Amino acid sequence: MNIVDWFIDRFRLKSAHRGIFERDIPEGINYFYCFGGIAFTSFLLCFVSGLFLSLYYVPSEKEAYLSIQRIHEDVNLGKLIRGIHKWSANFLIVSIMIHSFRVFITKSYRPPRELNWIVGVFIFVVVMLEGFTGYLLPWDQKSYWATVVGTNIAGSIPFIGQTLLLIIRGGYDVTGITLIRFYSLHVLWFPLIVVILLWAHFHMIKKLGVSKPL
Ligand code: HEM
Repeated sequence: MNIVDWFIDRFRLKSAHRGIFERDIPEGINYFYCFGGIAFTSFLLCFVSGLFLSLYYVPSEKEAYLSIQRIHEDVNLGKLIRGIHKWSANFLIVSIMIHSFRVFITKSYRPPRELNWIVGVFIFVVVMLEGFTGYLLPWDQKSYWATVVGTNIAGSIPFIGQTLLLIIRGGYDVTGITLIRFYSLHVLWFPLIVVILLWAHFHMIKKLGVSKPL
């Protein structure tokens, strides 16, 4: 037994791999059924590149923009990692849309998968919020004003709008407090929520299997 086989055997990697990845796939599925997996791959890329960016990004009013410049110009592979983060985020949103469209067209939201559709809707909302909070982080004119407009929309919700606006911005205006709030949501709260929701999503897919094409 060579060292690789020994490791695979002792770590019980084959049964773990079988448990996680091997499942019955119904006959007649096509490439559109790959978009859930593509969304997951994009999420992983986003997650890992984000971990590297967080080593250099500084979430403060004075430093945020400068730290992004530093990532671009001084940090080894910084520009590449930032590009991967941005593009995988875009891919994630597009692939989630195509995936939801596939699920809708094949009527896979019907019982017994209706709860997984609901979980999917929550994933979609949190991923969009993840994108929105990330957009402010470069702290340039475009991100600042996009956040002013976006949060104003939340502020226009009847009855709760103004309170919501104060909570989101951490005051009446978009300031350094908003930046810290968005940073925390972007790197901690939302990723954690997405991971929990994805666990529920995959758990149900594993138990129910992928739906048979119509
Ligand atoms: C990051 C986001 C998401 C990931 C990584 C993901 C991943 C997956 C994967 C890998 C599958 C297995 C079949 C396939 O790939 O098509 C699946 C199935 C499913 N997904 Fe998602 N998904 C996401 C978002 C969503 C959203 C937004 C919805 C709906 C609004 C949704 C609803 C469903 C349903 C109902 C199934 C079962 C479909 C069937 O059995 O044919 N998912 N998902």
